[in-house]
Amino acid sequence: MKTQVCVIGGGPSGLLLSQLLHLKGIDTVVLEKHSREYVLGRIRAGVLEHGFAKLMREAQCGERMDREGEIHEGFLIAHDGRLDRIDLHGLSGGNSVVVYGQTELTRDLYDARARLKGTVIHDVEDVRLNDLHSGRPSVSYRQGDEVVQIECDYVIGADGFHGVSRKAIPRTVLREYEKLYPFGWLGVLSRTKPVSPELIYARHERGFALCSLRSQVLSRYYIQVPLTDSVDDWADDAFWAELKRRLPDEVAARLLTGPSIEKSIAPLRSFVAEPMRYGRLFLAGDAAHIVPPTGARGLNSAASDIYYLYHAMLAHYQRGDDSGLDGYSAKALARVWKAQRFSWWMTMLLHTFPDRIDYERKLQQTDLDYLLSSEVAQRSLAENYVGLPF
Ligand code: FAD
Ligand code: DHB
Repeated sequence: MKTQVCVIGGGPSGLLLSQLLHLKGIDTVVLEKHSREYVLGRIRAGVLEHGFAKLMREAQCGERMDREGEIHEGFLIAHDGRLDRIDLHGLSGGNSVVVYGQTELTRDLYDARARLKGTVIHDVEDVRLNDLHSGRPSVSYRQGDEVVQIECDYVIGADGFHGVSRKAIPRTVLREYEKLYPFGWLGVLSRTKPVSPELIYARHERGFALCSLRSQVLSRYYIQVPLTDSVDDWADDAFWAELKRRLPDEVAARLLTGPSIEKSIAPLRSFVAEPMRYGRLFLAGDAAHIVPPTGARGLNSAASDIYYLYHAMLAHYQRGDDSGLDGYSAKALARVWKAQRFSWWMTMLLHTFPDRIDYERKLQQTDLDYLLSSEVAQRSLAENYVGLPF
């Protein structure tokens, strides 16, 4: 089999790039380890930057997002029994975010790929990347007993943190930066009316909590839990009771509870791999970087990689200009590190750290006091949360 661009990973990064390139007449093949149903069963991100929403429209995938997604012009910070609002719209010069689940967004991308008869191959095993430093790289995979080889011009590693693409870069070339946090987020999806029309990020001495939503009838809540906890330790009633304890009384009083329809724990991690290019391989999204979810940057950082790669590929195929491909790693990493800084900062601001000394606790309190009393500090938060320019 032959294609121009072989994309490894059928998550949002891989599908979006494949769709954008297809619309410009560039041939792609997407290889995905799991079935479509499995990929669509994962509940992950919920907040899209306005730049990401624009890219979805450019990919002709924005229709349902624009109809069903909610525009959010602010969010709330709960602390010390009260609520303060961050006016994203006013503070960022008129920008906002779209609340639209990653599951729905991925479904729209799969539907769009099917509409255009794009090649997306599911249930591939033993994916291998070959000859990345030659002018003619290839990717092989196995499906049942059959081994297939795809010859291509470029390979895109969009196969997430646990994928094979990053591992194809020699250890002598790859540098990895990592920080682990001593807790995870326990997330619950429930078919209940959200407690608040805007997201609530709650700081509490018992641990962080987040009230989010997918629609006016579907809520998404998270609480900080120790890494040693498992989902089985948290019956629904225990989850709701703990969430209520971490919210201001007036919010807890109006929280509607119900059976969980999904419950999972995600550990918090910061991670960056450099460089994001090796020969004819380009890494994108979680394959190259992970953020703790606090600032809602994970999926959005993937989108900015795709934006840069898309334009670099267009310049190559349409004008024979390789400057975008040559500059991809440096350009993508500059923005990735800003998302890292912001996610780390929001995580440090809002979580309870078991081994913090009193001095650090005082600084954390002062950081929050400063944020809530300074318009300059809030502008910085808003600028990062709605998304830095691509
Ligand atoms: P992925 O979505 O991971 O997609 C990669 C795809 O590659 C997957 O479908 C995988 O099956 C496939 N794959 C893996 N290995 C191979 C292989 N060898 N061959 C072929 N295919 C392969 N971000 C937020 O902003 N907010 C959140 O609340 C949030 N919650 C999250 C919860 C969890 C549990 C996780 C893991 C992530 C969360 N994120 C969140 C981050 C966000 O979901 C990711 O940043 C986003 O999914 C990145 O998209 P991606 O396409 O780069 O990677
Ligand atoms: C959601 C997740 C986040 O990490 C976040 O910062 C905001 C919202 C969510 O899943 O809805």
